[in-house]
Amino acid sequence: MKDNKIVGYILFTKIKIGESDEIALAPLGILPEYQRKGIGGALIKEGHRIAKKLGYHYSIVLGSEKYYPKFGYIPAINYGIMPPFQVENENFMAIKLNETDKEIKGVVKYAKEFGI
Ligand SMILES: CC(C)(COP(=O)(O)OP(=O)(O)OC[C@H]1O[C@@H](n2cnc3c(N)ncnc32)[C@H](O)[C@@H]1OP(=O)(O)O)[C@@H](O)C(=O)NCCC(=O)NCCS
Repeated sequence: MKDNKIVGYILFTKIKIGESDEIALAPLGILPEYQRKGIGGALIKEGHRIAKKLGYHYSIVLGSEKYYPKFGYIPAINYGIMPPFQVENENFMAIKLNETDKEIKGVVKYAKEFGI
């Protein structure tokens, strides 16, 4: 909330990586006149903080290789996490929410609502 209105939105949905319950970030959107003020970044960081507290180990995202690495995302393939569709490695990214967490590898399964 800013100026008494909602200026940004973020959603994480439950996914599976192999057999493990994890999350995917999408979508993220900030009203055009409020972009590039750090709001998107703040939503991502707060989302990660809550996800970590809830016990998730990884978040994945399909998106810009110029934006998400600013918040710790790297190509998911580096963790052995694979997309369920064909996409450039640099656009399918993951972040390990807690460096000391166990490693989880496998193919991502999105919620059935995505129809993937
Ligand atoms: C992409 C988007 C979510 C970024 O949110 P934001 O609040 O504007 O971003 P932030 O202010 O937190 O930006 C943090 C950094 O990323 C950079 N950045 C912002 N938007 C960027 C973009 N589209 N591509 C590359 N870098 C971007 C900023 O310059 C800033 O860099 P710095 O820390 O080096 O100064 C927002 O611009 C948006 O809603 N775009 C339209 C919808 C969209 O594309 N959503 C993503 C779907 S995957």
